[in-house]
Amino acid sequence: MNKLERALSISDLRGIARKSLPRFIFEFIDGGAEDEITLARNRSVFEQTTLAPRVLNNVENPELRTTLLRLPSAAPLVISPMGSCALACRGADVAIARAAAKRGIPYVLSSMATTSMEEVRRSVDGRLWFQLYTLKDRAFTRSLVERAKAANFEALVVTVDLAIGGKRERDLRNGVGIPMRLGIPQAYQLLTPRGGRCRSPQGERLNSKTSAGWGEAMMPG
Ligand SMILES: Cc1cc2nc3c(=O)[nH]c(=O)nc-3n(C[C@H](O)[C@H](O)[C@H](O)COP(=O)(O)O)c2cc1C
Repeated sequence: MNKLERALSISDLRGIARKSLPRFIFEFIDGGAEDEITLARNRSVFEQTTLAPRVLNNVENPELRTTLLRLPSAAPLVISPMGSCALACRGADVAIARAAAKRGIPYVLSSMATTSMEEVRRSVDGRLWFQLYTLKDRAFTRSLVERAKAANFEALVVTVDLAIGGKRERDLRNGVGIPMRLGIPQAYQLLTPRGGRCRSPQGERLNSKTSAGWGEAMMPG
């Protein structure tokens, strides 16, 4: 069993990621804005959610199947959109989408993905949704919608909470901005082995606009 398989919880996985990834990448994924009050509050709200145990029921075959947007899903879950996944692991968008397909739940490809929607569609036999930022360039935004439709993405997930970027202090301290550009400190962290399996990002892509929209002026106009 490798260390990922031995992980028992999200907290275990977080610990592995912290050890494996260059610091600026781990903190980009782990961090929130300003004093991270909203991040902490979100966690605490989840902690307050309790499950009511229904005892004296047959629990031999628990059934999680449901329908999402009128189609069957193996569980009431979707993989929410994450941009820049390739920073953590080469090919991450496709790997996560395949994992979602294997478990019968939808995968949401981010506007900020580093893999094109066509490539994800070609590589994955499963339910795909596309997360859309309304970009300043409305023609480009429209072209994203048309491509998503042509590539048989089932739904658009429109994200509206990024009219301006947050003041993400961990990123500022690490010299990280969006679009991400690598300076000497980040390059040093990338080159320093941390022992992780997924430590090689697609560095050559970081400054370029990918076909899914990375680096596009992303705020609504
Ligand atoms: C590293 C990272 C990248 C994200 N990228 C996007 C994105 O590109 N588009 C988007 O709409 N949401 C993005 N999100 C927000 C997530 O989809 C999700 O809504 C948010 O993390 C809250 O869910 P959680 O509590 O499970 O983390 C991102 C979140 C993280 C942590």
